Amino acid sequence: MSRVLGIETSCDETAAAVVERLADGSGVIRSNIIHSQIGDHALYGGVVPEIAARAHLARLDRLIGRAMEEAECGFGDLDAIAVTAGPGLIGGLLTGLMMAKGLAAATGRPLYAVNHLEGHALTPRLTDGLDFPYLLLLVSGGHSQFVEVRGVDDYHRLATTIDDALGEAFDKTAKLLSLPYPGGPAVEQAARKGDANRFDFPRPLSGRGELNFSFSGLKTAVRQAAQAAAPLAQQDVADICASFQQAIVDILADRTRKMIGLFEARHGSGGSRALVLAGGVAANQAIRSALESETARRGWRLIAPPPELCTDNGAMIAWAGLERLGRFEPAGFDIAPRSRWPLDEDVAGLIGSGRRGVKA
Ligand code: KG4
Ligand code: ZN
Repeated sequence: MSRVLGIETSCDETAAAVVERLADGSGVIRSNIIHSQIGDHALYGGVVPEIAARAHLARLDRLIGRAMEEAECGFGDLDAIAVTAGPGLIGGLLTGLMMAKGLAAATGRPLYAVNHLEGHALTPRLTDGLDFPYLLLLVSGGHSQFVEVRGVDDYHRLATTIDDALGEAFDKTAKLLSLPYPGGPAVEQAARKGDANRFDFPRPLSGRGELNFSFSGLKTAVRQAAQAAAPLAQQDVADICASFQQAIVDILADRTRKMIGLFEARHGSGGSRALVLAGGVAANQAIRSALESETARRGWRLIAPPPELCTDNGAMIAWAGLERLGRFEPAGFDIAPRSRWPLDEDVAGLIGSGRRGVKA
């Protein structure tokens, strides 16, 4: 059995967790403490990097203490320390990395510098014991990508966004309609009472051979519809949200169909026949149920980790550390954080892709 402490500070969640890996390879979460800074940033309508870094610094030591206490273990019981080293906001990453280096130096335990996106990508192995290879759809405030997960440290990006990230599109739509931050949950809630057929918003790049995403044209169409219908009554807002969300659902269903075809062409009947949905947008129920039927139609299953493991957390970082433990060299104390760090370093970045580029 191995036990790892995971630390996550790449954006606006301060998080620490202790996770164990048993002899049969399965994982047990002993503690998973998350402090969301949403309240600190809400006034500004988005994450303010300097405020985020200070808030991490103010809480991280006590948060780690709580994670250790809840797991009922001491630092001497750990086999390694794992920490997010990128991608993300540099001030927050530095806070977590320096703390992890200090703990590793003091305890003599190895340090693993984890790519935040790898944390998301490997989570279904912790929650569902999923075998490689599998297909991942990562949709968050900073990323929208399909990834073929072949093994630990072996990721192949199949498609990405050429402009906005999906969470960003939800957040911008919310802002435009004067809905609260963060926008995704607010848009989803408003959409429940709306008519999805009232506005015929575009489904950019759909229906053709195109695999990438584009959301900026959709955003423009939403803005034009909102201006044309102004002043907006509550029902107008609900109808715009429902029509916007329906366009997103159709776009994701279209790409999922294509990706399953591509994956099957590459792997035949092998592989896990599972689509993993991760990132904050994975909390959206309309998206979940659409992708559930889309995957079921092809004899696949949809795996969406529980919400607290879909959004940023320390357990996924601890688990990535456990997957690396004994198989990969630990990091040296000279390791530096990386604000940009693609999961698949072999593919060229697309212009404008994941502009915020700070969070997954
Ligand atoms: O993964 P996450 O917590 O942080 C990032 O890495 O960005 O994702 C946050 C994003 C935000 O853009 C938020 O609006 C979106 O996920 N989100 C949602 C929902 N809940 C969160 N988008 C659509 N529907 C939701 N229910
Ligand atoms: Zn993330």
